Amino acid sequence: MTQHSSTGPADNSALATVASRRDWWRDAVIYQVYPRSFADSNGDGMGDLEGVRSRLPYLRDLGIDAVWLSPFYASPQADAGYDVADYRAVDPMFGNLLDADALIRDAHDLGLRIIVDLVPNHSSDQHEWFKRAVAEGPGSPLRDRYHFRPGKGANGELPPNDWESIFGGPAWTQVEDGEWYLHLFAPEQPDFNWEHPAVGDEFRSVLRFWLDMGVDGFRIDVAHGLVKADGLPDLGSHEQLKLLGNDVMPFFDQDGVHAIYREWRLVLDEYAGDRIFVAEAWTPTVERTANYVRPDELHQAFNFQYLGTDWDAAELRVVIDRTLDAMRPVGAPATWVLSNHDVTRHATRFANEPGLGTQIRLAGDRELGLRRARAASLLMLALPGSAYVYQGEELGLPDVVDLPDEVRQDPAYFRGAGQDGFRDGCRVPIPWTREGSSYGFGAGGSWLPQPAEWGELSIEAQTGAAGSTLELYRTALSVRREEAGLGAGDSVDWLKAPEGVLAFRRGEFVCVTNTTGEAVTVPAYGRVLVASGEVTVAEGEAKVPGDTTVWWTTA
Ligand code: NOJ
Repeated sequence: MTQHSSTGPADNSALATVASRRDWWRDAVIYQVYPRSFADSNGDGMGDLEGVRSRLPYLRDLGIDAVWLSPFYASPQADAGYDVADYRAVDPMFGNLLDADALIRDAHDLGLRIIVDLVPNHSSDQHEWFKRAVAEGPGSPLRDRYHFRPGKGANGELPPNDWESIFGGPAWTQVEDGEWYLHLFAPEQPDFNWEHPAVGDEFRSVLRFWLDMGVDGFRIDVAHGLVKADGLPDLGSHEQLKLLGNDVMPFFDQDGVHAIYREWRLVLDEYAGDRIFVAEAWTPTVERTANYVRPDELHQAFNFQYLGTDWDAAELRVVIDRTLDAMRPVGAPATWVLSNHDVTRHATRFANEPGLGTQIRLAGDRELGLRRARAASLLMLALPGSAYVYQGEELGLPDVVDLPDEVRQDPAYFRGAGQDGFRDGCRVPIPWTREGSSYGFGAGGSWLPQPAEWGELSIEAQTGAAGSTLELYRTALSVRREEAGLGAGDSVDWLKAPEGVLAFRRGEFVCVTNTTGEAVTVPAYGRVLVASGEVTVAEGEAKVPGDTTVWWTTA
């Protein structure tokens, strides 16, 4: 197979620096940057690529391996950039292609990899293809690149089938000439027809464009949605929301989708540098998720089953075992994630009673939530495989649950809030400094208002502060990599532990997580490497407070 070294501007010694460790992704900690909310370089209240570039040293010092950037492409922002009008252009609000190039180069110089987001399930309604498809009317060949259909009913006044948009309301919108088009998300996000060869050609070309720019991988948005069941059959159920994620749907997790990823893998493998794909694939089970990471398909898939698990030792153990068991046969690393830009931050989820799901707009018990979040993060970072950290979780940020309605931008909020509703609360710009305009996010305001307590949670306030969540992450990330090699391997050995407590061994490493609210006594396994709370050790026993994780070395 030909190995092009990429011809793009970011290739050369810089890429060689980060490319030196093969299979880096198997145990990588990948940090999600949500560009709107990370750092604003020009004071317009909106984060941008130059802002990200200027803060790369912070990320290097944090100890992560790679940065995944949510979309920064040309977009009308109907869904915060997940509605792409031009896949090869940077939206002016985030900068330009030169900024993207500089960001990739600088990251490589610092030993960090860059993963970009690819949105292949749908485009923006302002994409050239869609605009022309609408303008040219029924019979336009461009309509075949999307899903246009006549309506049902005597005058075609009803949608072609009963599918609902994930953001609420019907998944179909009628255009002026009477035809309807499919959009599983907002009406501004028409779904591509992946049966049409031009769609596949275009996306392989887009892959090459960014690979040539030097990116180290792609996060694939709605990776489970590209292929729809033949004939777009009715779901025949009005309980779509309940079925989502629990069943194979005529529009999600269809087996045909895997052929696309096998083709993409061939493209990626032509490039030097150990680059990767990670799938956002909501499937009914981790076993079905494993199908996306078979050896000739993608490299990783997010573990949403783990993200959705309550703070409960027994449930966590089941999902950890199932994940490792599902990934082992396909040889893919397990992945672990607690927060992202679509769900309530875990410090707030765990502040509330269990069973409420991942979309919570209640502050709950903030102190309890933070204690559990720290323990949960330490547990996640002790597991074999790759872990995803969402910007701000290293500060223990809670969700902002009381945003006034008039500042909200999540399309799900305006469309009756389907399962992805109310996502603005986890997207509030992060605080860098104790004081000053938008707490150091930028010289202007911030596109979503930050709460007053943001200053005390800022990177400045937490840097060097003993016991701060930021220092806990730094220590944990360094121990994980340097001392204990925790990302390696594909199994854990469970140890006997009191009810509500998880304890496992991995060679000379032991992790104990107490998910109960009460202190427990466990054997002192050795030397404490790091703990999310105050652990006391005496006479061979250790007292682990409630909602606390401890890492030990027996060496
Ligand atoms: C998943 C993304 O993470 C989410 O933010 C977006 O709204 C949908 N896909 C649609 O692209």
